[in-house]
Amino acid sequence: MLDKSICDSRRFSLESRRYIGCKAKLIDWIFELINKHTHNVSSFCDIFAGTGVVAHRALEQYSQVVVNDFLYSNNVMYQAFFGNDKWSESKVDHIISEFNTLNPKGLRDNYFSKNFGDKFFDNDTAKIVGYIRAKLQQMSGNLTKKEFAILLASLIYSIDRRANTLGHFDAYIKKTITPQPFEMHMIDAKSYPGVQIYQKDANKLAREIHVDLTYIDPPYNSRQYSRFYHVYENLVQWKKPKLYGTALKPKEENMSEYCRNAALGAFTDLVSNIDSRYLVVSYNNTYHSKSSSSENKIKLEQLEDVLSKCGETQIFNHEFKAFNSGKTEFDDHREYLFITEIDNEKRNCSFPSILRG
Ligand SMILES: C[S@@+](CC[C@H](N)C(=O)[O-])C[C@H]1O[C@@H](n2cnc3c(N)ncnc32)[C@H](O)[C@@H]1O
Repeated sequence: MLDKSICDSRRFSLESRRYIGCKAKLIDWIFELINKHTHNVSSFCDIFAGTGVVAHRALEQYSQVVVNDFLYSNNVMYQAFFGNDKWSESKVDHIISEFNTLNPKGLRDNYFSKNFGDKFFDNDTAKIVGYIRAKLQQMSGNLTKKEFAILLASLIYSIDRRANTLGHFDAYIKKTITPQPFEMHMIDAKSYPGVQIYQKDANKLAREIHVDLTYIDPPYNSRQYSRFYHVYENLVQWKKPKLYGTALKPKEENMSEYCRNAALGAFTDLVSNIDSRYLVVSYNNTYHSKSSSSENKIKLEQLEDVLSKCGETQIFNHEFKAFNSGKTEFDDHREYLFITEIDNEKRNCSFPSILRG
C-alpha cells in the first residue's frame, strides 16, 4: 500500500515528459523574442503543439489560445492539463490511490502485458498498466471528460520515465528489465477558460482559425511522431490493434506530410492559407547530421524564402543540445526562430490562388 502523502505531494508538470523536439528548455528565449517583436497580440495558436509547453506559456499571457496536434495521446494531455470541463481532484486522487494498491501477482496477463511486457516495461508494470487502462474504460461513464483525461495522462506520465527505451518507442533496449514497484501520480491539471483544443491536420485547421499569432513547429525530418509514440497512441485509443515488427507497432496512422519529400509544399500551403498577423516558426539545423533519417526535409534557405514571401521576416538563432537517441551526432546544432509579420498583399502576389486552396 502506497503512503498517501507521497501520492498527494507529487504532481507531474507538463514538461516532465520525454518528447523529441520539446521546446521546454527554449521557452524563455522564444517568448522573449515574441514579446519584443510582436504587438497587440491577444490570440495565439500552437498548431503543432507536441507536449503543449509553448501553448502552456501562451495561456499565461494571452486571452485566447488554440492548441492542436493530430496525435490522440497529445490531445488527451491538452484536455487533462488545460481543458475546462468540470472535475473533482479528490475523486481522481482517490481513484489513483486505489490503483496504487494493485498487486500484479493477482492480475492476469492482458493486451498490454502480452505485447509490451518484458520489452518496453517489466511484465508486472505492463500488467498493471493494461489493467488500469481497461478499468478506466469501464469507469468512463462515471467520469467527466476531464477526469478521464487526467487519469489517462497521469498513467502515461507515471510510466514515461520507466519505459525501457531511449525516450521513444521506435525500439526497446535489449536487456533484462529490473522490475520496480509501480506507482501512479497525478498530473498538475489546471483549467484555462481561453483554451480551444483541436486534434486536426494542421493544414486543415489553418483554413478554419483566425488568430493574431501562429506558432509553427512541425517535424523537419522523416521520423514520424505517430510511430515514435505508438505505445501511447495505442493506450489512449484502446482499440487493441494487431501489432507488427520487433517494436510492436500498429498499422500506420497520422503519417505527417512534413516528414516526407512533400514537406516544403505542405509548409507553403500552411503559411499561405493561415489568417494570422504574425507567424513564428521554430527550426533546427539537424540536416548536417550523419543519419539520413535525421536529414531535414526543408532547408533553412527554403524556409526563409517562403516566409519572406509572406512578409517582413526576422531570424534569430540559439545554440542548443538536442534530445536524441544517442546515435546521431549533431554538429553545431542551432535552433532558429523566424518571426514574420504577414503582409497580405505581398503574400497574395507571392502565392497563386490555386495554392491558397
Ligand atoms: C516538433 S514537434 C512539436 C514540439 C512542441 N513544440 C513541443 O515543445 O513539445 C511536432 C509535432 O507536430 C505534430 N504533427 C506532425 N504533423 C502534423 C500535422 N500534419 N498536423 C498536426 N500535427 C502534426 C507531431 O505529432 C508532433 O507532436
